Amino acid sequence: MEKFVINGSKRLVGEVEISGAKNAAVAVIPATLLCSGVCRITNVPEISDVNMMIKTLDYLGAKITYINRHTVEIDTSSVRHYSVPYEYTKYLRASYYFIGALLGRFKRAKVAMPGGCNFGGVRPIDQHIKGFEAIGAKVNLGSGGVVDAKADELVGDSVYMDVISVGATMNTMLAATLAKGKTVIENAAKEPHIVDLANFLNMMGADVRGAGTDVIKIYGVSELHGCEYSVIPDQIEAGTYMVAAAATGGDVTIKNVIPKHLESISAKLIETGVTVIEGDDQVRVVSEEKLKCTNIKTMPHPGFPTDMQPQFGALLAICDGTGIITESVWDNRFKYANQLLRMGAQIDVNGKVAVFKGVDHLKGAPLYVDDLRAGAAMVIAGLSAKGETIISNIQYIDRGYEDIVSKLQHLGADICRRDFDDEKNEDIIAG
Ligand code: EPU
Repeated sequence: MEKFVINGSKRLVGEVEISGAKNAAVAVIPATLLCSGVCRITNVPEISDVNMMIKTLDYLGAKITYINRHTVEIDTSSVRHYSVPYEYTKYLRASYYFIGALLGRFKRAKVAMPGGCNFGGVRPIDQHIKGFEAIGAKVNLGSGGVVDAKADELVGDSVYMDVISVGATMNTMLAATLAKGKTVIENAAKEPHIVDLANFLNMMGADVRGAGTDVIKIYGVSELHGCEYSVIPDQIEAGTYMVAAAATGGDVTIKNVIPKHLESISAKLIETGVTVIEGDDQVRVVSEEKLKCTNIKTMPHPGFPTDMQPQFGALLAICDGTGIITESVWDNRFKYANQLLRMGAQIDVNGKVAVFKGVDHLKGAPLYVDDLRAGAAMVIAGLSAKGETIISNIQYIDRGYEDIVSKLQHLGADICRRDFDDEKNEDIIAG
């Protein structure tokens, strides 16, 4: 089994190039099912979640041609069936986008309930179903854990989302693009990837208005055409390198970003004492003094993103003073704290609130990952810690971070990916 081995306490210095956004790419790829032409998608991140979405399209019968590492041409005109089995959905949450896209195209979708990161707690899809039903679909959570959605025709209507949901907003957009008439999504999510999906759909000839606000209107069109589209840079990957720079007392320029998407992350870093210098498509993070704790509450965009919460946890663990993180998007996203405690952190978790009492430094330890952003937090903790950190179960990190080892090595980190003989490391697996 492969693990990351980190020898910490090395200052990160230099430049790092950010890849395309995972959470945009995993929606744009299934969205190609809605059009009858060829889509050329550029700035596609090379990560396992994207590979799985591409494999699923391939399974459905799409023609996939990689032009280079980050550019893929997708032709879904030969797709003739609407069923996605569990072996394709069990690894990632985003496979739920096949429900909206297949329903939009075939008026029928049978997709096994998605898997994904293990935050603890449930990850419901009731709001997705509310969106599909609002435009005329009948949805059955049938036998074998399959979501079976069908409609004679899809007809636009209004739907008010009871919770702000990225997935439900995007899935309703996918299903409504080829529906008759106007669909209105109220209390829509506003994340950058919502806007990216709307831009992509519009490039294919859809008429989606208001993405980025909490009311999105989709005027149904009869067909879509192929197009060329570049995925936005990954807000969370960029934020992760920003925090890694801060935690190691570094000086890192993060390139190919949209600084506007990073505002809440920059604001919190500045509160800890870091300098953040914004350019047109880059940010430079300079961390020179001992940082101080701050308080964070996660919120839907434009609030502070939940997907940056664990990385900030790794940072607050070594800041001066006491900081409180309140997680208000997911029920339980502090499982990573147990791993940081083993490195000497002082964290008290009580439900959705964690209190961090900063320590002078963390100490390297064997760590175990069971969710993507928790894994990013452990990498940051390992980079800042004194001594050796060995991180297992790193396939979760590979889901969302392209070339993380070489990008960090390029910044001066002592990190490598190494094959281990598992029998000698049972204590780590028990994590
Ligand atoms: N929710 C419901 N019902 C629903 C859908 C969501 O109650 O039908 C609740 C959830 O339980 C949660 C809240 O609404 O409490 C927000 O969930 P949302 O639907 O927005 O999350 P998601 O679409 O499943 C995406 C990202 C996550 C990110 C969240 C929040 C993708 C593929 N995943 O998940 O990203 O945490 O939005 O921003 O876009 C990650 O990248 O590591 C990751 C987990």
